[in-house]
Amino acid sequence: MDSNLVRKNFVEFFKTKSHQINSSASLVVKNDPTLMFVNSGMVPFKQYFLENSISKHSRITNSQKCLRVSGKHNDLEEVGYDTYHHTFFEMLGNWSFGDYFKQETINWAWELLTEVYKIDKEDIYITVFEGSDDADNLPIDAEALDIWKKIVPKSHILYGNKKDNFWEMGEQGPCGPCSEIHIDIRSKEEKAKISAVDLVNKDHPQVLEIWNLVFMQYNRKASGALEDLPKKHIDTGLGLERLCMVLQGVNSNYDTDLFTPIIDEIEALTGFNYKGKSTDTDVAMRVISDHIRAVSFSIADGKLPSNTGSGYVIRRILRRAVRYGFSFLGMKTPFIYRLVNVLSGKLGVIYPELITQKQFIENVIKEEEIAFLRTLDQGLIILDQIVKSSSDKLISGKKAFELYDTYGFPIDLTSLILNEKNLSLDIVGFNKELQQQKNRSKAASESSIEDWVVLIDDPIQEFVGYDMLSTKVKITKYRRVNSVKEGDSFQLVFNLTPFYAESGGQVGDKGYLESTNGDVIYILDTKKENNIVIHSVKELPKKINELFTAVVDKKQRFRTECNHTATHLLHQALRETLGKHVEQKGSAVHSKYLRFDFSHYEKISDNQLIEIENYVNSRIDGQLPLVENRHVPMQDAINSGAIALFGEKYEDVVRTIKFGYSFELCGGTHVKNTSEIWQFKIKSEGAIASGIRRIEAITNDAVKDYHKETNKQFIQIKNLLNNTKNCLLYTSPSPRDGLLS
Ligand code: ALA
Repeated sequence: MDSNLVRKNFVEFFKTKSHQINSSASLVVKNDPTLMFVNSGMVPFKQYFLENSISKHSRITNSQKCLRVSGKHNDLEEVGYDTYHHTFFEMLGNWSFGDYFKQETINWAWELLTEVYKIDKEDIYITVFEGSDDADNLPIDAEALDIWKKIVPKSHILYGNKKDNFWEMGEQGPCGPCSEIHIDIRSKEEKAKISAVDLVNKDHPQVLEIWNLVFMQYNRKASGALEDLPKKHIDTGLGLERLCMVLQGVNSNYDTDLFTPIIDEIEALTGFNYKGKSTDTDVAMRVISDHIRAVSFSIADGKLPSNTGSGYVIRRILRRAVRYGFSFLGMKTPFIYRLVNVLSGKLGVIYPELITQKQFIENVIKEEEIAFLRTLDQGLIILDQIVKSSSDKLISGKKAFELYDTYGFPIDLTSLILNEKNLSLDIVGFNKELQQQKNRSKAASESSIEDWVVLIDDPIQEFVGYDMLSTKVKITKYRRVNSVKEGDSFQLVFNLTPFYAESGGQVGDKGYLESTNGDVIYILDTKKENNIVIHSVKELPKKINELFTAVVDKKQRFRTECNHTATHLLHQALRETLGKHVEQKGSAVHSKYLRFDFSHYEKISDNQLIEIENYVNSRIDGQLPLVENRHVPMQDAINSGAIALFGEKYEDVVRTIKFGYSFELCGGTHVKNTSEIWQFKIKSEGAIASGIRRIEAITNDAVKDYHKETNKQFIQIKNLLNNTKNCLLYTSPSPRDGLLS
């Protein structure tokens, strides 16, 4: 059964059980400080489990793109060495938000596996949570056990401990006991030798878990305590790659149709043959075929390799692939980018972002490969010097650490090269240096967030900041944040808020809270976390249960709005001037400036910049009114031509923003009429990565300041040249003047 059919059969089955079929959410997590990437199908639905918002559908099914490369679920180092772990994988899932629970979940899972996929019942083994006598003191999952007993012979039901049968998304968040479904795909002879019962959860490549049914009923708090969720939910995850392995009768995920086209291409590019064993070349091919998927999907969802945070995770994955190609397949020139074509051919039908962004993904990967291969070359020279200057057969861990830390040269490569030269590495010394560095950066960035103190149990919070900048509010909960750098601060949640929380590139509002007796607490920033708007303050109000007036800093908001609307006009100007290939790759809308990153392959000429600036200014001059629609079904918005951004997560019902021909899906705040922007000025243009350019620009007051400064400089130059002519560079600006420089 081809993987496309396997995926389709899953969602179609749950459709017959009244589930809504969703498309996959972006791989990149926004608004959640506990996670960088979607590591499980349930992540995009976390807010529904926590009941921060209510899902329109109480039953959903989909195939979700997942990445397990950091935090609690991190499989990176195993990938390549075994045949069934991946960084990127697709998780098929069905969800119930306060609707059905264990009975239906278990029965449907059984029906789907045995009647639709026709897996032999004899090969299926079930695990049930045995309970725990640790601090959580959890009971055995007797309910699941009873249900399973009715459909599976007792000999195929096993008990599992907390590590295997109690699923948690991360250090905090929704969790609950689970039942795993394992399949034994060994040969008859193997089965006769040893029972699968002894191999379940023992890392056997042919007796492996394919589906996890999680019965969500707790929330793990920052303090480590478990609290009951308001309702019980279902979260299941069936690994598509493993299921394909079972249904296609092969022994490795890498032998399924999801991987074979990529491995074939690696063979063609490198001249090595993949035999499916565990030789270095096979491992390298598995690593590369896995990592190309992780990196391509991340780039398509807007997460580019970089030196910080989640961008650095992507860079590390790609570098790992380059390293394996370099060390074991003799690839000293870029080649990984060439695999994008095959990947997009295979998965583009399901994930069209791989087709529309193919060229872009290739460019980014190729540039990264070039840069890292250069680093490797440099590193090899330095390593050679280290070896020559060392009188010892044991190379110092400190020197190897310098090579790793300063030049980014991977330690395993150092070790490998030293081995080839019959030298060895002081790995203990290296690890000591590494640990010391980790301790230093951990101490500098350490912060802790305490649990929420709930004052009013009112989980649904309304944002009223499109229409008002000040309103009466109550604080519903607060928590303390302690950071080594900045000391104590607090975060507040209100029952409703006029404060816009940072999102879609637009900064969060600042402002203040005023109590009835006139005490003022400044709100320093506003952010969103799992759909809740969180206001940061340095201190708590004296009487926290009062009614407060929440007031947004009007000036900062207005300047930000000018920049946000100008960003939309700029986006349109770029598409009109440079072509429809221009796609937004990132944006930052501050009160003082705006920054817009977009795909374009060459430098923009001065004349084009003037044209772009004039285009925006003519729309400002044209006094275009804001046409806003807050509740449009997503598909209707797209059908009527609104531009959506890749990697953004949109609800079923979206907000559209239109100024003349500029028409976008956007949750941000905007001016009511483009004339309020007064003027738009481009400050800089340049490349930030291969195929990505950045424009920085200003509007309104910042342009006035800019003109004042330019005039001042002009007069200084005039004086220097002793020019007595009574002329000014600039008197009253007209939007159509374009670039003045
Ligand atoms: N969230 C569960 C898992 O990832 C289904 O295993």
